[in-house]
Amino acid sequence: MSNNIVIAIDGYSSCGKSTLAKALAKKLHFIYIDSGAMYRAVTLYFLRNHVDLTNHEQIAEALKNIHLNFHSRDYQTHITLNDEEVSEEIRQMPVSDKVSEVAALREVRHEMVKQQQRMGRSKNIVMDGRDIGTTVFPDATLKIFMTADPKVRAERRFKELQEKNPNITLEEVFENIAHRDYQDTTRAESPLVRAPDAIILDNTNMTPDQQLQFALDKVEPLLS
Ligand code: CDP
Repeated sequence: MSNNIVIAIDGYSSCGKSTLAKALAKKLHFIYIDSGAMYRAVTLYFLRNHVDLTNHEQIAEALKNIHLNFHSRDYQTHITLNDEEVSEEIRQMPVSDKVSEVAALREVRHEMVKQQQRMGRSKNIVMDGRDIGTTVFPDATLKIFMTADPKVRAERRFKELQEKNPNITLEEVFENIAHRDYQDTTRAESPLVRAPDAIILDNTNMTPDQQLQFALDKVEPLLS
């Protein structure tokens, strides 16, 4: 048994999981792992290579050819797909539109969960996603389940995306978030659901600092 600490942060799309996870990792000197970036990078590969999502052989073959790596700098996500830096491209709409469909595939989840478990085996980590506290690390030291008003979530994500893509509309972002929430909560394979022992954090009216303090108050007693 290893004694490393795992903090699992799950929740709906665009509800600030990664902002909190990064701040927490920075404060505690833990490693931050953005599991969503892995599903996004796989989706980018599938889109570029026209992988047929109904063809299990093609999916298995594609997964063998995908090599993902995180390069952590300043607690920001830097992910490479077969040695190419794709951190920006995976946030764009073509990937966002397809990612939940790809993430619902059993073969894809199986491979990603295996890699995520390996990353958290011996190090202190904060990992955010949809199934971290339920499937990836059911024995996590601390589990937080985040949620926020869907309108607030869409506005936050819209602001983020608008900087790089001035043509994007709030409506498009809202629809994407609603669609992904639906797909993520209704899929057969490890759907997004709150683990019974996860603490709920609704951050609709909270600042990032308040959320960090909330999480620190929960984690600090577990560190000694
Ligand atoms: O940042 P945002 O909340 O919009 O999403 P993300 O964390 O980048 O995840 C993108 C998509 O990957 C989600 O909508 C899920 O479909 C999928 N995902 C998943 O299935 N399981 C995870 N542990 C993380 C992400």
